[in-house]
Amino acid sequence: MNAQELIDTANALVADDKGLLAMDESNPTCNKRFAKLGIPQTEETRRAYRELIVTTPGLEESISGAILYNETIRQQKKDGTLFVKVLTDAGIIPGIKVDTGAKDLAGHPGEKITEGLDGLRDRLAEYSQMGARFAKWRAVIAVGEGIPSRGCIETNAHALARYAALCQEAGMVPVVEPEVLMDGQHTLERCCEVTEEVLKTVFSQLYIQGVTLEGMILKPNMVLPGSTCSKQEAVDEVADATERCLLRSVPAAVPGIAFLSGGQSAELASARLNAMNVRFKSRMPWALAFSFARAIQQPALEIWRGQEANVSAAQQALNHRASCNRAARRGEYSAAMEKSSATVPQLTQPVA
Ligand code: G3H
Repeated sequence: MNAQELIDTANALVADDKGLLAMDESNPTCNKRFAKLGIPQTEETRRAYRELIVTTPGLEESISGAILYNETIRQQKKDGTLFVKVLTDAGIIPGIKVDTGAKDLAGHPGEKITEGLDGLRDRLAEYSQMGARFAKWRAVIAVGEGIPSRGCIETNAHALARYAALCQEAGMVPVVEPEVLMDGQHTLERCCEVTEEVLKTVFSQLYIQGVTLEGMILKPNMVLPGSTCSKQEAVDEVADATERCLLRSVPAAVPGIAFLSGGQSAELASARLNAMNVRFKSRMPWALAFSFARAIQQPALEIWRGQEANVSAAQQALNHRASCNRAARRGEYSAAMEKSSATVPQLTQPVA
């Protein structure tokens, strides 16, 4: 492992107010999103959709790195150019999701453990050889009656730390993603409490496993009330709670925090990230960035709907969301950006 290279890559991922584009949905997740919109769920439609994303003109102005999936990293444009090369040529760093998914945690009803450590060293070597320079592993923590348990938090934190150590050994920056889920009726305070406990446990495990904090990125949830909680706090209150929680739990040596969107609407995710940067950017030890999947892709996917004629409009929508999030990193995002005629895409083919 070359520590300086890791540190340089981690810093590059959060440089220039850019962020990450998560396009690493597993085939079942991608198929589920396609099914909702009536898009055929085939390898070719997944390839065509990912080609739409990686060939979006100007994407590199807001996106520093793109997270791919095992199928996607092997795929090519119609003309035979590998997606990894398309991204690299555009100045976007390719990354790869390396966990193999969250499975039921034995003895802990309603809780999950993320798997994928077996054989990970060999898979990382292959991905690195294919051009990936960073990786992602997502742990999911559900909030509910009597959960999360210590058992769930500790096993997931341990797995995240072992994954992160293996990544750094392979020369790849680990994006460490412990996601406290939004699903449920829990309050903002409860999310804050759980997120703090999870992050403290994760950083304790990262320390035990000898992970270089300067050569990693943290990808946490924002601190939010549960999606069915009757009290939904305003944007600034979410920003305050998130910052308070992160300041208590995340060492200053970490170069960047790149939030997941977790099912928030695209506009709210941008507004909340913006509020954090407006209120705290000058005082935070880490960059406050984004690593969104749905909050960048969903509007584009809804425009595309599998139709070649909609590719250009979908690319404009994707670029628009990426630009909004770059503006949010600068604290320059506003609702007016959503209305600007220059950035709202026009459909060339009406949706069915
Ligand atoms: O692992 C989840 C993704 O990387 C982030 O997805 O922004 O849709 O929550 P999301």
